[in-house]
Amino acid sequence: MKGDNILKISVIGGGYVGLVTASCFAELGHTVRIIEIDNKKADLINAGKPPIYEDKLKGILHKAAGRNLSAQSHYDGIEDSEIIFICVGTPPQDDGSADLRYISSAADSIGTALSKSDQYHVITVKSTVPPGTTESVVQPTVLKSFGHHSSSLGFCMNPEFLREGRAIDDFMHPDRIVIGGDSQNAIDVAQKAYERLEAPIITTSLKAAEMIKYTSNAFLATKISFSNEIGNICKKIGIDVYDVMKGVGYDHRINPYFLNAGLGFGGSCFPKDVMALIRLAEKSGEDPVLLKSVIDVNEHQPGRIIQVLSRRIGDMKGKKIAVLGLAFKDNTDDIRDSRAIPVIEELLQTGATISAYDPMATETMKQVFPDLMYHSNAGDALDGADACLVLTEWPEFSDLKDEFNRMKNQVIIEGRKILSCSGIEGVCW
Ligand SMILES: NC(=O)c1ccc[n+]([C@@H]2O[C@H](COP(=O)([O-])OP(=O)(O)OC[C@H]3O[C@@H](n4cnc5c(N)ncnc54)[C@H](O)[C@@H]3O)[C@@H](O)[C@H]2O)c1
Repeated sequence: MKGDNILKISVIGGGYVGLVTASCFAELGHTVRIIEIDNKKADLINAGKPPIYEDKLKGILHKAAGRNLSAQSHYDGIEDSEIIFICVGTPPQDDGSADLRYISSAADSIGTALSKSDQYHVITVKSTVPPGTTESVVQPTVLKSFGHHSSSLGFCMNPEFLREGRAIDDFMHPDRIVIGGDSQNAIDVAQKAYERLEAPIITTSLKAAEMIKYTSNAFLATKISFSNEIGNICKKIGIDVYDVMKGVGYDHRINPYFLNAGLGFGGSCFPKDVMALIRLAEKSGEDPVLLKSVIDVNEHQPGRIIQVLSRRIGDMKGKKIAVLGLAFKDNTDDIRDSRAIPVIEELLQTGATISAYDPMATETMKQVFPDLMYHSNAGDALDGADACLVLTEWPEFSDLKDEFNRMKNQVIIEGRKILSCSGIEGVCW
């Protein structure tokens, strides 16, 4: 590994981004302290047990916990850190704009904790925040509680591009690292944290770094909604959209990624970030017609799988529908904004009974729908079912074959193109 700058780092928030960031920085050799207000999560992290499921995380956390990584629920001791990464959540408010209360609270606690220090510290926002937030919320809040010589603090914005389910690989092998800063000194410290990674570093203003993150997510969401719209047209005129997108994706100006038509995007980022960008545009006097359509197409895709189901089996009242896949994507237990949620809600309204299976997300989905019939394997969920809907692209679903023989009627509809057996209908193929 190149680079020998070992830093003392604090990471505020031990959720998906904070825990992955902290564990990877520890793997890169830095000494890392996680501040996580939830005591239970902090205890689990100290015991080397990730509170969330993320591929490869357990291994690197287990190696680092108690060695060069520790977690605590208070801010004492962060004055040791050369750099502090803010990784708290920025959930949507009722109107879709970003809720910055966790950011403000973290900034206030950081300022108070650093007020006893006379070292230089760099406070770096990694959470996804609307352009202007680091300058107009984080910086003034930290400085207010810090209370003295502002020249001993630097500020950066370093957006995170990791994908859940592949987060460790994404962190360790990023396409690029974006660092916006209020000074070259601050940017230099942030760059040192990443010195051991091979990736282009783009340095920019604080606001541009914030906008890069929103723009990346909005563009990827646009590709998905675009593919879904083409898929919906293709289905009407009897063309397989996957044949079409294969031919389209070979064009290097387009590339083959994020062209998979299906149920649309979910998760904790795309829906909330596109909505936050729409609200930001509106507040600045712009009407973001394209972004609004991206959300509109996405909202309608789950209803389309119900329409296909209804055409195939008629009245759903009292029918048993097997739902395979609850997580918003494969390889995670995260169900935030999962497309399975609106599909299940619509099914319940029709009076259908639901027999559900997910390799990882059953426990989290039980918190939303406690009364579904949950199973520990796909075969049991399919037993006696009148129809099956596949809602998440778990690789293990592509091996399903004989399990479908346990259904009462073999009506199988995919919301994600993952099955390999015959007789399948897709939501838009
Ligand atoms: N999840 C992703 O795939 C992803 C990817 C890129 C960027 N992001 C962005 O990163 C940010 C964090 O997302 P996440 O998915 O990790 O959220 P999360 O909800 O999983 O984690 C946030 C954590 O911060 C803790 N917390 C809240 N306030 C705190 C405080 N004042 N001090 C200490 N801890 C506090 C919470 O208890 C929680 O564990 C968001 O802005 C999100 O948009 C997320």
